[in-house]
Amino acid sequence: MISVKDKVVIVTGAASGLGEADARMLAAESAIVIMTDINADTGQRIAEEIGATFFQQDVSSESGWSDLINLVRSQFGRLDALVNNAGIAVIANIETTTADQWRRTMATHLDGTFWGCQSAIPLMKESGGGSIINMSSTAALVGIPAYLAYSAAKGGILSMTKSIAVHCKQQKLGIRCNSIHPGSISTPMVHEAVKTLAGIDMTAMPDVEQGRKDMGIGEPDDIAHMVTYLISDASKHINGAQIVIDNADTVV
Ligand SMILES: NC(=O)c1ccc[n+]([C@@H]2O[C@H](COP(=O)([O-])OP(=O)(O)OC[C@H]3O[C@@H](n4cnc5c(N)ncnc54)[C@H](O)[C@@H]3O)[C@@H](O)[C@H]2O)c1
Repeated sequence: MISVKDKVVIVTGAASGLGEADARMLAAESAIVIMTDINADTGQRIAEEIGATFFQQDVSSESGWSDLINLVRSQFGRLDALVNNAGIAVIANIETTTADQWRRTMATHLDGTFWGCQSAIPLMKESGGGSIINMSSTAALVGIPAYLAYSAAKGGILSMTKSIAVHCKQQKLGIRCNSIHPGSISTPMVHEAVKTLAGIDMTAMPDVEQGRKDMGIGEPDDIAHMVTYLISDASKHINGAQIVIDNADTVV
């Protein structure tokens, strides 16, 4: 049975898009949700609405992670799952990417995911195991020209995930680690990209399902269902997997 009831779960980047959808679905399924984001106003508002806890965090900061884990340990006494979801998507290719764009992308995605996994594992060990979900992208599998740094960072998340999964299995920690690779999903990040790259205002397209059919763009709950499953014990044999959710847009 797919249940996340009473599981203590951290979702980063939960004030928007995929992270928000994860937090909403997990809270609706009776998980104990800790939402984090750099955007405190929106994050706090959503947390109050769904009965979650909000913690302001920049995922690229190591000290922020130890503060977060200390809070979770003292308030909830355990940690069952971490969704490393926070991200940015700078539109720049190999010829135009600046040093600042490169470093910000690596700091958010790679440092953020690394600190998240390293910080969460000790508390998950104390809790008897856990599930880590790292949000990668189909960009990790094909390398998108307009997203040079993003593709590189998401590729790093893919291999970091596998390394962590095998380590945790070898050490018999009871901790699983999987990556999800969404194609285009209707979130503010993608609305911005579609506007910049194709001149289309998706926010003016009220019918999400039509957007999916016409433009191949999925909806946040398509990812949240998988996150919920990967956190549940029903997925206990899934470890080190790269799960593509793109309706065959990227078949490699
Ligand atoms: N939407 C898609 O089509 C898609 C596809 C593949 C992968 N992804 C990945 O999914 C994740 C979520 O993307 P989204 O589409 O929901 O984007 P989004 O822009 O809607 O939301 C991202 C959230 O992350 C937060 N954030 C950014 N930098 C942060 C930091 N340093 N510390 C803490 N929070 C930070 C933002 O404030 C925002 O709330 C990202 O990792 C993204 O790369 C999205």
